[in-house]
Parts: sequence; C-alpha cells; structure tokens
Amino acid sequence: MDGIGEPTVPHQHPTDRMTITADLPISNTQVADSIASAVSEGLVSRRKWLPAWLFYDDEGSRLFDRITELPEYYLTRTERSILAARAGTIVGEAAQGELLRVVELGAGSADKTRLLLAAATARQGTVLYEPVDVSASALAEAKERIESEIPGVQVAPRVLDYTQGFELDPAVPGERRLVLYIGSSIGNFEPVEAARLLEGVYAGLAPGDTLLLGTDLVKDEATLLAAYNDAAGVTAAFNKNMLTRLNRELDADFDLDAFAHRAVWNTVHSRIEMHLESRIDQTVRLAVLDLDVDFAMGETIHTENSYKYLPGRPQAMIGAAGFSPIACWTDEQKRFAVSLGRVE
Ligand code: AVI
Repeated sequence: MDGIGEPTVPHQHPTDRMTITADLPISNTQVADSIASAVSEGLVSRRKWLPAWLFYDDEGSRLFDRITELPEYYLTRTERSILAARAGTIVGEAAQGELLRVVELGAGSADKTRLLLAAATARQGTVLYEPVDVSASALAEAKERIESEIPGVQVAPRVLDYTQGFELDPAVPGERRLVLYIGSSIGNFEPVEAARLLEGVYAGLAPGDTLLLGTDLVKDEATLLAAYNDAAGVTAAFNKNMLTRLNRELDADFDLDAFAHRAVWNTVHSRIEMHLESRIDQTVRLAVLDLDVDFAMGETIHTENSYKYLPGRPQAMIGAAGFSPIACWTDEQKRFAVSLGRVE
C-alpha cells in the first residue's frame, strides 16, 4: 500500500495529460468529459489521485472562501497585509509613469485586488481591470461588485483558461499592463507546469509590462499543517466535497464517513499534500463510468499539492520565465512573498 507524504517516490503526474490543476475545462460538456476521463484515470492508478480543480463546484468555492478566513489559514491575510502595505509602491513600480491596466489571472472573488485597484485609481483617476477566469458567472459577479464599490474602475472580464496559453488585447501606446497572479495559486501546479504557465504569461506580454506573483513560503511544519488541517474541519469538508461531487455527477456511492481528510508535509518536494484516506477495506461504485474501485484500509486518493517556496525561489521562477525580477516583498515573519517581475 502507498503511504502518504511518502518522501522518496514523487507523486508527479505526467505533464502531457490532466494534471492536478492544469487543463481546466470550461463548458459543461467539457467539464463532464474531463471529470470522466480524470476520474477513470486517477482512480485506477496504482497511486490513486484526483485533479484539484474538482474541488471548485459551487459548494467547494464557498468552502474555499471560508478557508481563507480561518485563523489557521495565514496565507490570505498575510498576502493581504503585504498588498495593503505596498499597493502604492507596486502600482508605481509597474506603471513607471505610464497608464496602468490591471489584468488578473484566476480572479475569483478579487478581494485582495481591490487594494491594488484603489491604489491605481488614486494614481491615475480611472483604471481598466481585466479579470481572467474560466467561470463567466464569477466574472459577471466581480464586474458588478467592483464597479459599484470602487469608482473609477472599469471591469472588462475575459472568460479564458489561462493555463492553456495567454493572449491579451495589445497594450495601447503609453499603457503598461500589470498581470496579477496572486493567492499562491501557482503553488497548486507541479513545478514543470508552473514554469510553463509563467512562460506563457511572459510570451503574452510586451516590454514594460509586469507580473506580480503571490507565493507561500516554507516555514515550520506545525504552521503549515495547521493551515491545511483546521480545527473547525472546513478544509476536511472542502477535501471530502470532491467525493460528494463524484456521487452527484458520476452516480458514485462514496461513503464520506469511510474516508478521512489527511494533510501531510512532504519535505523532499516542499509541498503540503492533501489526501483522502480510506478508513476501511471497501469497494466504491461509479455507475456513470461502470467502474468499481477497490480501496484497502489506509490507502489514499491524492487530491492536491500545495508547493511552498524557499526565499529567493519565487524571483528565480519569474526570472526563469524571462522576467527581470524587480522586487520581492514579504511580511515580518517571512510567511508569504509577493514578487514583481518586468518584461525588459
Ligand atoms: C487555491 N490554493 C492556493 C489553496 C492552497 O492553499 O493551496 C487551496 C487550498 N487547499 C486547501 N486549502 C486551501
């Protein structure tokens, strides 16, 4: 049986197929097809796995929003504190005296973004904000909310799977684009995929444009583990929601009580891993796939990797993608980093 957090055998998915977060499906038919193919592949593997994008149905997105407010989940509030302290500097560095357009990848609720948008409007009066996301409904909500809350911001949403390439409208002369990829989302990609994504962003930009990357940093194991194993059980519910989704969408019969949420720190790969561990020997039926999956007691389904970086690594990553690293801001405890890179 495979152990969790097992340090010597990496849990890496081949990069040419569905990976933990890449290849996000967009339309409903694409979603159904992608779920079917990912599940039939992941659950018959020797080391069982499911892609992390499966977390984010309506309930999963709600649970993730709750995670970001948990006392143990330091990531969101730490990044917010860095942005609150540095928004003016970031916007000034990115604009270099020109007009700034703000693009955000995987915009979600765009909560921390408002700090940067407020700084940009304070500087230049109005700002064009282009949130990019696979969810048209999330973008429509963001447009309504942000335009009503921050006067001077014009929201131009783009429904796009940015993991599959990246093409922006050309910048108008005298305009610079600041691309935000914050929230530690890059950490959910395997290193090769993360590098490819950053290279794709670089390729879609022009000289003078910048990328702002939010990354979680390596820290003591207890702090890391608590963030993914909160006392209120919200992360456990988030993890198990994947099984609820398969029960609903693939007519599966996962018994949620027969699986336990596990979060482990994998030192070798510098990542938190989330797993669902079978509490008993059992067989689960997925009727839509006509598939029966056997689980031994203690066997796990690997559902997510969340990479944590050593100081210096985020700048090295943006540098390897082609950007010139401009600055890296952290909090006092060096828990989180926000790095800026420019296309020269
Ligand atoms: C979205 N992403 C940055 C989160 C993370 O921390 O890796 C997802 C998450 N998984 C469990 N808790 C939060």
